[in-house]
Amino acid sequence: MRRFYLFLVGTALLFSCHTTKNIVGANGAVNPYQYNISKKATVANGAVASAHPLASKVGVAVMKNGGNAFDAAVATQLALAVVYPNAGNIGGGGFLVGRRSNGETVALDYRESAPAAASRDMYLDAGGNVIEGRSINGHLAAGVPGTIAGLFETMKYAKLPFAKLIQPAIDLAEKGYVITEREAASLNSLQAELKKYNTTATAFQKGIQWNAGDTLIQTDLANTLKRIRDNGAAGFYEGQTAALIVEEMKRGSGIITLNDLKSYTAKWREPHQFTYKGYTIVGMPMPSSGGTLLHQMMKMIEDKPIATYGYNSPDAVQLMVEAERRAYADRAEYMGDADFYKVPQVQLTDDAYLKERMKDYRPGIAGSSQITKPGLKKVSEQTTHLSVIDKDGNCVSVTTTLNNSYGSKTVVGGAGFFLNDEMDDFSAKPGVPNLYGAVGGEANAIAPGKRMLSSMAPTVVLQNGKPFLVVGTPGGTTIPTSVFQTVVDIVDFGLSTEDAVYGPKFHHQWLPDEVFVEKSFPTAVRSALQKMGYTVTERGSIGRTEVIKVLPNGSFEAVADNRGDDDAEGY
Ligand code: GLY
Repeated sequence: MRRFYLFLVGTALLFSCHTTKNIVGANGAVNPYQYNISKKATVANGAVASAHPLASKVGVAVMKNGGNAFDAAVATQLALAVVYPNAGNIGGGGFLVGRRSNGETVALDYRESAPAAASRDMYLDAGGNVIEGRSINGHLAAGVPGTIAGLFETMKYAKLPFAKLIQPAIDLAEKGYVITEREAASLNSLQAELKKYNTTATAFQKGIQWNAGDTLIQTDLANTLKRIRDNGAAGFYEGQTAALIVEEMKRGSGIITLNDLKSYTAKWREPHQFTYKGYTIVGMPMPSSGGTLLHQMMKMIEDKPIATYGYNSPDAVQLMVEAERRAYADRAEYMGDADFYKVPQVQLTDDAYLKERMKDYRPGIAGSSQITKPGLKKVSEQTTHLSVIDKDGNCVSVTTTLNNSYGSKTVVGGAGFFLNDEMDDFSAKPGVPNLYGAVGGEANAIAPGKRMLSSMAPTVVLQNGKPFLVVGTPGGTTIPTSVFQTVVDIVDFGLSTEDAVYGPKFHHQWLPDEVFVEKSFPTAVRSALQKMGYTVTERGSIGRTEVIKVLPNGSFEAVADNRGDDDAEGY
């Protein structure tokens, strides 16, 4: 038995082991048995902020060894698929927004799609009611995974061979890594669901409690990653891995077929771009609502003197809440996969429309979602984000997800990875809230091959065409509001990167008509909002924001959220 010593040093956890040497990352730069958590890195050459220290360290090791930000983003995601099974994945999907060193901006959609056998009412009973949990847990909740297709598309802009980028993940899965206290608690709380939603034993079950310092080994996952290394995307979408997925589906009444897997493609999209006070915001277009919501919210407040109201002042929070309310009302009605539904994109982001939308905003008086409706005239939060930048001016903002924590809770037998429960992001029935309490309608109804509407908002902010911020967060429907607040906090209120990331967040999504706030949200502001007429509801933490800011001297300031084991590294 290995022996581990756990020290608490400020916010850093330090694991110590005397018997192992560094085994992963280029030149063995990363030791999965002895690592610390670093919340901030100010560096000159390259930086990564992600949900897990080992993943951030793998990304930096890749850049140190000749890779660029795209290489690092691929390697970091693969490492997260091993060390952050809550949301890092190969059984889910994601979105990438990037800025290349030549100034080109890019957006990649590797969102899951509905299997060919999916149908509009597949989660309803004979009486037309939503069957609780069916789109969230187990085999039927899974969409066709997009992550591996997305990683191979990302390779278009990478410099190193894929085999080098995936090797750290293979090592981490095969030889294991030491888990933190938070991870042990998370795995312990998952055990009952693992039992319920799996047809074979998983690496995450061991009969006794997980403890900080235990080593988690994932042999099946290592073998799956080796098949991907050796056969490319076909190592996932065809051959043995595909067969294992389909066998798993058959054992658990799922509907993903070999043909669904083989025909999946990731899609390059035109980034959703707009300006805010001289900055260019580069965001994700449909099927994520992220870029459009950010555009709507930022334009709705742009002509208001928000900086004079003050950071987290009742007036500033109210203004932002009212912008959030209006944008999310439009999300519910008009947004969905634009390949399947005609999203009125131009009208939704028209300056005059957004100005008109705020006409009934009354400072000091709560708005109402009974009155604010979708505005056009008729015509789980377990996701994970990583931000990467390199010395050549490439930057990559990636948000990926399984949807709920550990997705559908179903691990593909013999292949070792969790399947997503992304089908819940569709609207199972108009007006019935999903996992995030969000409602939708026709635009986001289920159809074979369609991609479910997302809120993920990987974002790059440019100043004079050069990278200024690389930002994003998990958090389901709270993602766009957290990114909105983080950017406004830095641009308008002049907050430090740490204060913008760590500061209390709030969220309004039209329905329910409530302002959700974190525990640390100031009491005086809560009372002021209540006096205005708002219902203020305290909830758990909102998001885990990862920001890289380019400082005036050109160096990079990477800050990882303190709401989790998130970690910022650089060199
Ligand atoms: N599954 C969360 C999202 O895509 O918004």
